Amino acid sequence: MPVRGRNIFEDLPSGLLNGVNPYAQELVEACQAQTLPLLYGPYLREMKGSWKDLFARQSCSRLIPEKLILEVGVHKGKTLLEMAEAFPSYGFIGLDVTFKRVVVTARKARLRGLTNVLSVLADARMLGDLFGPRELGGCIVFFPDPWLKKKNQRHQRIINEAFMRGLEPLLERPGFFWMKTDAGDYFHEGSAAAARAGFLPAQGEQIFPEGDWESSFELMFKRKKVPIDSGKWILF
Ligand SMILES: C[S@@+](CC[C@H](N)C(=O)[O-])C[C@H]1O[C@@H](n2cnc3c(N)ncnc32)[C@H](O)[C@@H]1O
Repeated sequence: MPVRGRNIFEDLPSGLLNGVNPYAQELVEACQAQTLPLLYGPYLREMKGSWKDLFARQSCSRLIPEKLILEVGVHKGKTLLEMAEAFPSYGFIGLDVTFKRVVVTARKARLRGLTNVLSVLADARMLGDLFGPRELGGCIVFFPDPWLKKKNQRHQRIINEAFMRGLEPLLERPGFFWMKTDAGDYFHEGSAAAARAGFLPAQGEQIFPEGDWESSFELMFKRKKVPIDSGKWILF
């Protein structure tokens, strides 16, 4: 059950726990006991402006991460965890709206011994409640749900001008936004929204995590030979 549109700081309804949704129960228990690197609801209240400190506390080195990279729609963590392994001095935050995906990502991070990952249950439309000014180095959104099936669902697309204008104050300078999608019209909407919020198309700048970082959906679309758009933008 996705948590879109909920107050991200609210606790989960008790009706969901006690075995009704095993992932919701695991999420709550693991967050309370700090046995998995995940956060939800009430545990997010104090996080704005403090993410780097939390990463420093959970790493063996106690070092503040050089940069924070946010992935919206982390799914089961493929891209985020591969990047976290390759860039141990960065902190990686993966957001998703389903209990299972947040828990599975956190379990995998723990299995791989990654201390620079946090898996977070939150709706990406609430980024301004989660992050402080210039707290993020970059934001990645690979294959956001295209909501193509019914015309009246398209307002649910998360990448639009409001999202990009909301992201702008949260990014350090230079900061980046990277979007990939199989929906050509969504890519154009994302490009236009990025431009309106003051982002410029990237021209080989070195601020992105080096590599192409194929996500799970990307591999699936490539197998089906579906064309994919990938766009990178920078805020100076
Ligand atoms: C189509 S999947 C893509 C997953 C992954 N990024 C990839 O490329 O393989 C979209 C993901 O975004 C998540 N999602 C949808 N709406 C969201 C929202 N408002 N905030 C955060 N995540 C969201 C979904 O639960 C799902 O995991």
